[in-house]
Amino acid sequence: MKTFRDNVAVVTGAASGIGRAMAERFAAAGMKVVLADVEEPALVEATRALVARGAAALAVRTDVSRAADVAALADAAYARFGGVHVLCNNAGVAGDGATTWEQSLDTWQWVLAVNLWGVVHGIHTFVPRMLAHGGEGHVVNTASMAGHLSTPFLSSYNATKFGVVTISECLHHELQMVGAAVRVSVLCPGFVRTKIIDAERNRPPELRDDEQRSEAAQAFRTAVRGFVDAGTPPETVAERVFEAIRDQRFWIFPHPEMLEAVRARAESILAQENPIFAPPPGMDLKL
Ligand SMILES: NC(=O)c1ccc[n+]([C@@H]2O[C@H](COP(=O)([O-])OP(=O)(O)OC[C@H]3O[C@@H](n4cnc5c(N)ncnc54)[C@H](O)[C@@H]3O)[C@@H](O)[C@H]2O)c1
Repeated sequence: MKTFRDNVAVVTGAASGIGRAMAERFAAAGMKVVLADVEEPALVEATRALVARGAAALAVRTDVSRAADVAALADAAYARFGGVHVLCNNAGVAGDGATTWEQSLDTWQWVLAVNLWGVVHGIHTFVPRMLAHGGEGHVVNTASMAGHLSTPFLSSYNATKFGVVTISECLHHELQMVGAAVRVSVLCPGFVRTKIIDAERNRPPELRDDEQRSEAAQAFRTAVRGFVDAGTPPETVAERVFEAIRDQRFWIFPHPEMLEAVRARAESILAQENPIFAPPPGMDLKL
């Protein structure tokens, strides 16, 4: 996409972290921005901050796991700004760091509902309208390096992120096949300094899970919190996203140093070897 000024971006999970940074980057490029998030006070605050800087911004409280909420988000965006050119399906939650057999079904449901169904709802609702409009557009789906690597204690999260990668690839092929001017990128960051480790703050009460975790799972959570706190600033990730939209690049890897692990995994699959997990330095994982 070459034109940003006065075009419209919709960002889910825009009240915090990567989503908020993307909303700010788009506004800085002169775009009108629709911020969607389930956490209303943070959403209102993020939107106010953009408006205070002179941006045209609209907040729409949205739970991306609900199809009706995402449909209402699209209606609000089109009613206010008359079109949508960039859609960032970004809202996401981390699991709770447990073995695959310990994770409760409530956790599976919550993580799949937000991270996977949220992206499905976004594509299902917005892409037909973007295609009908006929002009340039871009969909950015937030996956993760967890969409390429099988880190233990994260199977529900990884399942959603592997899913988002393949959904994005399929969407890319299909849009190419129909000759659409709408492009796709999939964002696959490593660790980014956000509130993802405190995602529990937005877990619906009916899916709450207060089970005591194993010591190994707790140690894993502590280690991941350290990696996230020391992670890349979200503004840097937002810049990579902006460049990818401008340059029509599908893959967005803000942490290219982690691609060596992707190569190692691919090579071990090709060699039909059993998987070996190589934890990042400092991540002690004993069961
Ligand atoms: N932080 C990292 O290290 C990292 C790495 C790779 C990928 N990601 C992905 O980046 C995306 C953004 O996460 P972040 O790191 O900025 O975390 P964050 O917690 O700072 O922001 C996530 C936002 O999503 C919102 N959200 C949660 N559930 C929602 C729902 N049901 N409907 C709408 N909004 C909802 C939250 O309120 C929050 O504002 C996620 O998809 C995450 O999986 C993060």
